[in-house]
Amino acid sequence: MSAPAPRKILVAVAWPYAQGPLHLGHLAGAYLPPDIFARYQRAIGSDVLMVSGSDVHGTPITVKAEEEGVTPEDIVNRYHPEFLRYWDTLGIAFDLFTTTGTDTHTRVAQGFFLTLLENGYLYRKTVEQFFDEQEGRFLPDRYIDGTCPHCGYEHARGDQCDNCGRTLDPIDLIAPRSKLSGSAPVLRETEHYYWKLSAVQEPLLEWLRTRTGWRPHVVNFAIGMVEDGLHDRSFTRDLEWGIPLPVDDLGPGKSIYVWWEAVMGYFSAPQEWAERRGEPDAWRAWWEDPEAESYYFVGKDNIPFHAVYWPALLLCHGGLNLPTDVPANQYITFGGEKASKSRGIGRSLSWYLERVEPDALRYAVAINLPETNDTDLSDEQMVRRINEELVATWGNLVNRVITMTHRYCDGIVPEPGHEDAADAAMRAVVAAGFHDVGGHLEAVRLRAGLGAAMGVAQAANGYLSEREPWKTAKTDQERTATTLAVALSAVAGCATLLAPYLPFSSEKVLTALGLDGAEGRWELPRLVAGRRLGELGPLFTKLESLDEE
Ligand code: MF3
Ligand code: ZN
Repeated sequence: MSAPAPRKILVAVAWPYAQGPLHLGHLAGAYLPPDIFARYQRAIGSDVLMVSGSDVHGTPITVKAEEEGVTPEDIVNRYHPEFLRYWDTLGIAFDLFTTTGTDTHTRVAQGFFLTLLENGYLYRKTVEQFFDEQEGRFLPDRYIDGTCPHCGYEHARGDQCDNCGRTLDPIDLIAPRSKLSGSAPVLRETEHYYWKLSAVQEPLLEWLRTRTGWRPHVVNFAIGMVEDGLHDRSFTRDLEWGIPLPVDDLGPGKSIYVWWEAVMGYFSAPQEWAERRGEPDAWRAWWEDPEAESYYFVGKDNIPFHAVYWPALLLCHGGLNLPTDVPANQYITFGGEKASKSRGIGRSLSWYLERVEPDALRYAVAINLPETNDTDLSDEQMVRRINEELVATWGNLVNRVITMTHRYCDGIVPEPGHEDAADAAMRAVVAAGFHDVGGHLEAVRLRAGLGAAMGVAQAANGYLSEREPWKTAKTDQERTATTLAVALSAVAGCATLLAPYLPFSSEKVLTALGLDGAEGRWELPRLVAGRRLGELGPLFTKLESLDEE
């Protein structure tokens, strides 16, 4: 019998607007989780395709460009390379991190538009839209704010309310204001393509109601939104900076609404990836085979677009896989406030990366992932958890075991002698770790998975304290060798379990144990007795407080 074909897993990661630096909230909400999940999936042998890119269109970029008196391209060219540096430094291993400014994306988004048109989901409609008379132009959503009609929040944006999370049509805002001139905009007629979203309300609801294993806050929000009623939405905008329509019956100056084309990036990026490898059809295995799986990693504010609108677009298109799961996170808060680059709360990722090693930062964020609740993160708490858990438990375990192997076994992996119940129990804890941590990772409970992996390291520290190899070394060399053989195996096991979370340090540990490459597999690596250990300095450095000098 031949081995079963590997699972095809699309790891789809929210596309950040190339409009400003990212902060810890972004890392926790959308960027670290997919990398942990993807590394685990690769380790168990799945065929992972992890994609994302810079979201370069729409008004977030044009607003910023206008503020600075530069072009939208200038803004993109500043932040896209910065994102690539973050991924490189943090080990966020995308198969492709592109932008929505590529020819492939334009072609795919325009093709998607034409398919919707052909399937009868797009129609032309003349509507009234906000127009700024002082500026003499139509106002895109983000150029308007006002009071949310649902919750009364006074600073709702034209496209979404940051308070209740609902997506909005600017026309529904109470007391709208133009951000350009501050004046009250007036309504003017303009022609657009509309998306017959209402037509898929029932199939979408049916699909959402039959999801299993989704985070309750995600599926409940999505169901609530669809039950409230899905109204047809404008598919195009009066804006030059975007993907032009593939039809010219509306005249110039229109583009596809940025949100609709941005989510299509999940479909275009795999095609770009396939083109680049010279196998232009390779993407199909992730999108057209109904067995293929897809996981969308996004922050809370992106739930409507990934659990409702993108599946709705896919239903209207036909022939493409709906999301397997949308393991969206809640918010990271800083002193009770949501991190927000626009409001200046929460420091930039670069600030942290100048002070904290990548794996230590990954640890502090992963152990605090806001998977089920908003989670407050302070610098003091990060420093404490890095020092008391990562350094004191895991770093210390590695350090003790390697140092003792040098001291008592000449730095050579010892051959174990007779093993008793305590040795067997230690080995069983490590074996169970692969099952437990793997179960959490498979279910995208990443925070619990890290806790379980650290539990194994803690058990290994406990084992050493009980066995006291520093004492038996004086009396019983066989006992000492057995203890260290078991402990080295536990270290190898922990390094493998932690590899999805702490890729840099796990690789170092496994290489020092002569187990190069073991971090890429999900099984207990087999130590070779008689092999000399490689060099390994301290794994992590203890942090002083992060306060600014
Ligand atoms: N750039 C948007 C945001 O950061 C959209 C992200 S996901 C996308 O919220 F798929 F829609 F691009
Ligand atoms: Zn609201």
